[in-house]
Amino acid sequence: MPQLRHIVSADDFTTQDVEFILDKAMGYKSMMRGSNILAHNIITCAFEQPSTRTWSSFCAAALGLGASVLPIPDAGVASSFAKDESFEDTGRILSANCDLLIMRLKESGTAARVASTSTVPFINAGDGTNEHPTQALLDFFTIWEAIQEGQIPRRLRIHFFGDNARGRTVHSLALMLAKHASSFDIEIRSMSFGGSEKHWIPPAHVTNRLPMEWTPGGNRLLDADALTQCEVLYLTRDQTEHDDKRIIPVGSAGSSFVFSRSQTMMMPSDSIIMHPLPRNSELSTSVDTDPRAWYFKQADNGVPVRMALLRLLLRGT
Ligand code: NCD
Repeated sequence: MPQLRHIVSADDFTTQDVEFILDKAMGYKSMMRGSNILAHNIITCAFEQPSTRTWSSFCAAALGLGASVLPIPDAGVASSFAKDESFEDTGRILSANCDLLIMRLKESGTAARVASTSTVPFINAGDGTNEHPTQALLDFFTIWEAIQEGQIPRRLRIHFFGDNARGRTVHSLALMLAKHASSFDIEIRSMSFGGSEKHWIPPAHVTNRLPMEWTPGGNRLLDADALTQCEVLYLTRDQTEHDDKRIIPVGSAGSSFVFSRSQTMMMPSDSIIMHPLPRNSELSTSVDTDPRAWYFKQADNGVPVRMALLRLLLRGT
């Protein structure tokens, strides 16, 4: 059994972890079912927020490795969270009944509280506006894969455009790139953050950790001259579920920008467009057929990358 450890932040991955995961995930891409390496393990998936990709890919990853999944998809109402049970008690109880615990949580910072009492490996599947470390892992894998395939160069300029303040995938990926890119021979020439809303600047706890120059780009990042200077464009939707719901009903505030086919013309041929999905109006379906549209490949990487992570945490090799 490997040493007990938890993944609360993208910062919890060591270089050795990332090496292991890139290598194993590449193998799992061609074999997503049929392994029994986690036979007899129980993996609990308890989600307090809606999810399509993260939920289904964690479950598929666990099942593909022969584990059994204990699902609690509506943890906010179907668990004792509804009775105000503390995050610490929840971690203690759920972890006693499984071998690995995966949780998505509504409030930022609560993943660390669950992890503090979990007696089995715990994985944060997204906590509020804070972090989403496994999405960062699959995003990092996707960038690395695009380099291997010669779709993008090793020396990259990255533009994050959208809700960088509240987009937890942005926070985790920025931290991950800052920490690990150079170990994988990836040079981040620049990281820019932009958006047309008030939420385009990431929180200081993220920007303070970026060793490379970062640029606040505002809405100019989607201008022609900016797009010609970017190898990875990482779009995000407005995270409207965090708006004050008394004033703005969820889903009513569609993004005020749209990235569409006409803008792809300005991007270099050796570039990719990423998006953690789900998308709203900010990413037009007219982009989908462009060979640089990598967001569905990115989503498809969720299962093999999570298979590799489950294996790492439960078997170590
Ligand atoms: C993201 C999330 O939940 O943070 N989705 C995902 O896990 N792929 C992004 C989002 O909801 O906008």
